[in-house]
Amino acid sequence: MTERTALPPTAHTPGLSPKHIGVIMDGNGRWAQQRGQLRTQGHLEGLKAAKRIVKTASDFAVSFLTLYTFSTENWKRAVEEVGFIMGLVKQYLHAELDFYRENHIRIRHAGDREGLPADVLLELDEACEITRKFDGLQVILALNYGGRDEIVRAFKRLAAAGESASVENLSLFMDNPDIPDPDLIIRTAGEFRTSNFLLWEGAYSEYFISDKLWPEWTGDDLAEAIEAYGKRERRFGTVTGRKVNYEKAD
Ligand code: FPP
Repeated sequence: MTERTALPPTAHTPGLSPKHIGVIMDGNGRWAQQRGQLRTQGHLEGLKAAKRIVKTASDFAVSFLTLYTFSTENWKRAVEEVGFIMGLVKQYLHAELDFYRENHIRIRHAGDREGLPADVLLELDEACEITRKFDGLQVILALNYGGRDEIVRAFKRLAAAGESASVENLSLFMDNPDIPDPDLIIRTAGEFRTSNFLLWEGAYSEYFISDKLWPEWTGDDLAEAIEAYGKRERRFGTVTGRKVNYEKAD
């Protein structure tokens, strides 16, 4: 089991691959709008892109992939759109079981279970249970997920356990404390926002912003993001790897 460490890990050597990638899958609506189609069609195509990225991440031996599938704020959308996305998630979980088995993919959840429809929870729990022992890529569906909400729920659990508040302790009460923090967070559709995604865990994540809309994403785009990550120098607040001169300049 991988322990999350609340302290900055040692500085990253360029050339390494990200172990944990988070994705803010943005631009489904715009993709549909550009084609004069309904937003739901954009989500359908978005699901196809998600399948491509899961396959590529699995082929690249990425350990964890967190997909921002439905946020705590997404409930404010039209009831038809919310229902459509929930239906899509349910169908995805069921229809992909053979694929998970073949590729040893484990499904997990991040977010608040409360508020999710019972039929979605049923499929989610079944997929999580069936794939629990699979040792390949772990796909974490961030569903009814909000970074602030996760921190508040973690804090409540910490208080209920009678533990004192510290960065290290609170880390242990987040939704998936055994999963290491994301190394790389990808956001599509050219937006420069965190949108409440992995606020705690993403404190030191590298960001990769792509102009492409999510439904257009392919395995090659993921490969490009991974390659770009490999060229980053991660310092986690330190000055490692940089020439530092503490002498006063003339
Ligand atoms: C953001 O695009 C996308 C969502 C809120 C939904 C994401 C859902 C999927 C990709 C389908 C289900 C996926 C899985 C893995 C089961 P947007 O609608 O905000 O786009 P816009 O900003 O262009 O309107």
